[in-house]
Amino acid sequence: MNFSKYVKSKKLYSLAVCKHKANELKAQGRDIISLYIGDPKEDTFEGSPKAVISYLENNSRVNYPLSRGQGNLLSAVADWAKRTYEIDLDPKTQIISCNGTKEAVFHLPLVFDWSDGSEIFFGSIAYPVYKASAEAFGINYRELPLKAENNFLPDLDSLSPSDWDKCRMFWLNSPHNPTSAIASRQYIEKLLALAEKHDFLICSDECYLEIAYGEKVTSLLEFHNSKNWIVLRSLSKRSRMTGYRSGAVISLNKELIAAFAFIRAPAGLGSPVFVQEAAIAAWSDDEHPNVFRDDYKQKRDIIKAALEAKGFYVFGGEATFYLWFSHEKLPSSKAIFEKFLEKDLVITPGDAFGDDGKGYARLVYCVGEELCKQTASRIMELEI
Ligand SMILES: Cc1ncc(COP(=O)(O)O)c(C=O)c1O
Repeated sequence: MNFSKYVKSKKLYSLAVCKHKANELKAQGRDIISLYIGDPKEDTFEGSPKAVISYLENNSRVNYPLSRGQGNLLSAVADWAKRTYEIDLDPKTQIISCNGTKEAVFHLPLVFDWSDGSEIFFGSIAYPVYKASAEAFGINYRELPLKAENNFLPDLDSLSPSDWDKCRMFWLNSPHNPTSAIASRQYIEKLLALAEKHDFLICSDECYLEIAYGEKVTSLLEFHNSKNWIVLRSLSKRSRMTGYRSGAVISLNKELIAAFAFIRAPAGLGSPVFVQEAAIAAWSDDEHPNVFRDDYKQKRDIIKAALEAKGFYVFGGEATFYLWFSHEKLPSSKAIFEKFLEKDLVITPGDAFGDDGKGYARLVYCVGEELCKQTASRIMELEI
């Protein structure tokens, strides 16, 4: 059979490689601690399972969901956005519910015509789905170098006006997976001015925005006069609901939202109704994301202290539940990865996120407190 070019390339999703390694070592009886996937091991926000149970107990059947999201969920998202960012959104025309933001990231390019050779821009160290969707749909893309000296953010000044004219979508991910880099308000203002001048869409993947320990991280939802952004917000990390599959896609650009709803409808992407009920509970509670954030801060402190005590250079660490680090004496990502394996800790080599991640590694600390402490003490035992 003549499969697509993308299928023929058969790249193993980077985290799958770590999973294989962890499973192989577990099968040998080793006491592995998995620190490679951003899938919280702590309990989900308690209101969400309660809403699911209540829905199922009170409904003798579950019908097809509305793919763009049921009215009361979209209103809950609009209310949350109003409370949080003082933005007025029309739930019917400016918000869509998605089945986790991963699928929304993947499908979003389908709303545009790419036949003129326009491109998708994203950082050279990135959540792998930006590239996977561009490759799967045969769209040109550009990986903008991310370097420590630019705080792991694309250097906006390095591109010429003709470069910007080629851009149709720009993935911004702040706070950033895997580096935890944060784009300042000034940076975002500059990017937005470029987006308006060169007519491209800032696709702001804000799935870690609530997990930030310092100043409030700037969201595109703070810019109430632009139609050149689309924001993706997820309940996966904020409310520890990865397995529920629920997020929200928001834009002031009604035409864009209508186009995305149109593309998504035949793909059958609606979240089950009981999940939408759980999502309403999560968007309606402003307290739990703060509690979860404070919990992650404590865990960050424990692990970061251990890494620094062993001579690792830890970048940022002020947001997300990832630590991104390097070590003078361990010059490659593979060397760091293997060093951690000696203590049965499975982390992610930085180059799994792109070539500019070479020499770094990512450690995920959304695990229970006990495992965090064990991780820290195993780090302290590393012989470097
Ligand atoms: C940067 C980034 N974007 C999007 C996602 C997708 O999250 P979800 O589909 O669970 O909403 C992830 C998940 O790890 C991520 O790291």
